Amino acid sequence: MNIRPFKKCDADTIISWIKSERIFRYWCADRFESYPITGKDLIAQYEDLAFNDDIFHFVAYDDQGLIGHFNIRYPDKKDMSTVRLGYVIVDDSRRGQGLGKEMIVTALRYAVEYMNASKVTIGVFDNNPSALYCYLGAGFKDTGVTETYSCLGEDWTCKELIYDACDISADAEGFSYYISPEDYMMFRDAVGWGLFPLEEAEKSLRDSIVICIREEGKPVALGRIVWDHGYVVYIADIIVLPKYQGQGYGRRIMEKVMSTIRNNLKPGYSVMVSLSSAKGKESFYEKFGFINRPNDDVGHGMFQWIKEPFTKED
Ligand SMILES: CC(C)(COP(=O)(O)OP(=O)(O)OC[C@H]1O[C@@H](n2cnc3c(N)ncnc32)[C@H](O)[C@@H]1OP(=O)(O)O)[C@@H](O)C(=O)NCCC(=O)NCCS
Repeated sequence: MNIRPFKKCDADTIISWIKSERIFRYWCADRFESYPITGKDLIAQYEDLAFNDDIFHFVAYDDQGLIGHFNIRYPDKKDMSTVRLGYVIVDDSRRGQGLGKEMIVTALRYAVEYMNASKVTIGVFDNNPSALYCYLGAGFKDTGVTETYSCLGEDWTCKELIYDACDISADAEGFSYYISPEDYMMFRDAVGWGLFPLEEAEKSLRDSIVICIREEGKPVALGRIVWDHGYVVYIADIIVLPKYQGQGYGRRIMEKVMSTIRNNLKPGYSVMVSLSSAKGKESFYEKFGFINRPNDDVGHGMFQWIKEPFTKED
């Protein structure tokens, strides 16, 4: 699945996916007065909104054509760290196949990686379980805040959901998926590894999958997966703070790293997972299936650092 900006010629197709007034209100709440609407009405609304330059319209597509539609907007342009998703809809003939969730995950990635958002919000009616579970599955959390809308002569409760890219709370297995650039540098410093500017650290973290274990809110064990979304996967920064070493944290992080990679493989995919072991730690990684280089089949793994001058005080 890919996403691209909405084009006027998409409008009729998007509107054709709305087969009832109920679905229409799930989709737009009260943002259009009357039902039904045409593609022209959608274009007219988007053209009116264009003057504000705070809303961006997208479609998701694959080799079979358009899959879905959504908007991303700034609810408050003075705070560009928060964006809001809206007008989410999937082709009615392709619903219930995981495509809605994949589209929302892609939209979240776009908002975080390209728009630099740290929070993404969305509203969903509690009588629309497909949308609610799709958003929760994509990583949104229920804020507990609700708003009542009058739709189809009924009172509908709209739940306010939030996705927080800097969320440090742990999942059911005790893992969290965010670490600040400052904490990341603290980890590297604690084990005597090279430091670099926070801006560079932030980029490294943003473009990788972070897996972290926290004790009383403070990160104590870390691992990162750097993946080109194809066959190349690199495991970086497996670090347990010295005080917590020898207590199983490293094994837990590596098990989670390996299961995350496996769970993200599509049928038929193969990936080559590599890492550089710290000296003397090879047997730790052998437990997870890693093979030493060189061997009869492959030569040494090789690397080099290319460095610009940097000191801790920078
Ligand atoms: C809401 C919508 C975008 C979701 O897309 P979708 O392709 O149907 O949803 P998915 O197939 O991706 O489902 C995602 C998850 O929600 C779960 N889910 C979907 N419908 C569900 C239901 N009725 N009850 C419980 N779970 C449900 C799925 O099982 C899946 O979970 P999983 O990943 O753990 O297996 C789509 O149904 C739609 O276009 N609806 C009409 C417009 C609309 O209501 N928009 C929402 C505006 S807020």
